[in-house]
Amino acid sequence: MIFFEHRYRQRLAQALRNQRILITGASSGIGREFALQVARAGANAILVARNRDELDRLAAECERLGGRARVRVADLSDVIECRRLAATVLREDGAVDVLVNNAGRSIRRPIMECKPDDFEDLMAVNYFGPLALTLGLIPAMLERSRGHVIQISTIGVQTGAPNFAAYVAAKAAAEHFARALRLELGNRGIDVTTIQMPLVRTPMLAPTRIYSAFPALDVERAARKIGWAVVKRPARLAPLWSSVLAVLHAVAPGLLQWFFDRLHDPFHEWMGRRHAHMESRRDAQTDAGESKGPKDAK
Ligand SMILES: NC(=O)c1ccc[n+]([C@@H]2O[C@H](COP(=O)([O-])OP(=O)(O)OC[C@H]3O[C@@H](n4cnc5c(N)ncnc54)[C@H](OP(=O)(O)O)[C@@H]3O)[C@@H](O)[C@H]2O)c1
Repeated sequence: MIFFEHRYRQRLAQALRNQRILITGASSGIGREFALQVARAGANAILVARNRDELDRLAAECERLGGRARVRVADLSDVIECRRLAATVLREDGAVDVLVNNAGRSIRRPIMECKPDDFEDLMAVNYFGPLALTLGLIPAMLERSRGHVIQISTIGVQTGAPNFAAYVAAKAAAEHFARALRLELGNRGIDVTTIQMPLVRTPMLAPTRIYSAFPALDVERAARKIGWAVVKRPARLAPLWSSVLAVLHAVAPGLLQWFFDRLHDPFHEWMGRRHAHMESRRDAQTDAGESKGPKDAK
């Protein structure tokens, strides 16, 4: 385990030597953990999100771990602000070598209950904002004939995701832009990677309590996927099982629908029971802890 950790850190350090990496959504979850991994590799990062306090705390932690970190506060759902951010970074920090479009937001809501704003809000933060930032930073990459754009997406784009229509549609737009970018600029030194993340245990899952019962990646392993993407620069990273479902959808969409119709609800009911069981075990442990407390105090 220590060997793999060491090798990862070494490879990431090599890949990021004398490079500037910009990470959006660095104040929480996957982006925050990846920023810490980048700092342990001794690299130079620009950390972007809205929450300045969190970013300042993270930057101090990054410096303590041996990295260098610069904080840039921006609302990435605002295209004008994204253009301004790109211009400020180029002017004051210099060209970005690796851009990680990680910031994002999801809404879990059935289509018939969605508010019109849901679709626009999620397009703004998951597609139009990152698009404006990428377009702002790409010219400087092209001038130097090198650069890497990493787009954080979701396996929902591969498998389809009931109740996440607004989110998955916005991520699909970002993915298709990333794909076109790679095809157009790949021969001019620009690499583009799309990472289709499975469920990851981060604050993003908190509003849906049942997700605590779902199998999910821990944040450290999710962040490492980004690290390996920085090192190896693949076109796409995704779990094998969701890629198999994507192939199934391409060759036999009816079959995938058949599975969804029969398995989606029973799976959620099973996870619901698992969640209830986990909650009751937690309550029992809390009660046991409380009843032990006064005795211990004697
Ligand atoms: N967790 C999962 O299961 C999962 C699965 C597949 C894909 N993903 C993707 O992974 C990425 C990271 O998600 P996470 O799970 O780490 O979520 P998270 O813990 O909720 O973090 C989201 C990050 O995005 C930033 N952000 C949100 N809205 C923003 C805005 N308008 N302007 C600037 N920054 C904004 C947040 O910072 P501020 O609030 O400080 O602005 C925060 O740093 C997202 O793109 C998400 O779609 C997550």
